[in-house]
Amino acid sequence: MLFPDSRGRRLRATSNFRRMIRETKLSCDDLILPLFAIEGKDVKKPIESMPGHFQLSCDHIVKKAKQAHDAGIPAIILFGIPDKKDPLATRAYAPDSIVQKAVREVKQKVPDICIITDVCLCGYTDHGHCGVVENGIIDNDASLDLLAKTALSHVRAGADMVAPSDMMDGRIGEIRQTLDEENFSHIPIMSYAVKYSSAFYGPFRQAAESAPQFGDRKTYQMDPANSTEAIREATMDIEEGADIIMVKPALAYLDIIYRLKQEIDLPIAAYNVSGEYSIMKAGEMMGWVNAKDLIMETLLSIKRAGADLILTYSAIEVAMELKNQ
Ligand code: PBG
Repeated sequence: MLFPDSRGRRLRATSNFRRMIRETKLSCDDLILPLFAIEGKDVKKPIESMPGHFQLSCDHIVKKAKQAHDAGIPAIILFGIPDKKDPLATRAYAPDSIVQKAVREVKQKVPDICIITDVCLCGYTDHGHCGVVENGIIDNDASLDLLAKTALSHVRAGADMVAPSDMMDGRIGEIRQTLDEENFSHIPIMSYAVKYSSAFYGPFRQAAESAPQFGDRKTYQMDPANSTEAIREATMDIEEGADIIMVKPALAYLDIIYRLKQEIDLPIAAYNVSGEYSIMKAGEMMGWVNAKDLIMETLLSIKRAGADLILTYSAIEVAMELKNQ
């Protein structure tokens, strides 16, 4: 039917009409809040590149987790800034290290929130790469054991889910096997399966103090030019035992989210990464845009593309906004 018989504006005329025919809805249930844990007591160190976010000691991590839970957010994801870095990332899998401590405290004090841990080595190696380095080369197979040990130590501390973000080949299988052998077959793995080598991670690397000290991550993270490769990566991780497939970053990769949603049958998570967050906050500080409106629209578009879950630094603000609506 064509105009004047059909008029698209009829059902846009009132907020009730708009509510009634809205196709995509954001919900608190979709949100995962990333937090950065650091050693010490009562530490709340602002992350300059990410306004509104802090490196938090465990007491403050617990407070944030409580705030997230009260706002209706089901899960947090924890990153750690260790007290020391070395070539073998020993603080990634030491039982008394920062993420393990943060997990134990949150588990004890906010037992009803789901605790996910980011499993990677880049924040814990002195060279800042996500795997072990041999003669200047990132050694895939030598990294697997350390990644599995890291995941296991998080789960032993009480993590409800692990999220490997390193992009080494075979790590999902290795982690799954290790967890199964240690009687953690019930713990799900959210794989950063489709993780691009992206300039949008810039602010995060300041937050997590995890920038590579030489070279870049192009030999393990994906080329932004590739889409079919995303299917290959996701398929491999599914075969190895992944329970949730993540696409990262989100906004410049909505086509990838959409495509994966059509082609795979696992829940899809999207990471609305640090650069996406900081650009919007910066734009607001310049007085040029309204960050809250931008964030709501962005998250809605990520959901519309097909994401079931969204990791976002704006989770608490968004949850409160959703409550008010
Ligand atoms: C660790 C990791 C990174 C992010 C999540 N896990 C950084 C990287 O790969 O350099 C980025 C998250 C963000 O930018 O918000 N490998």
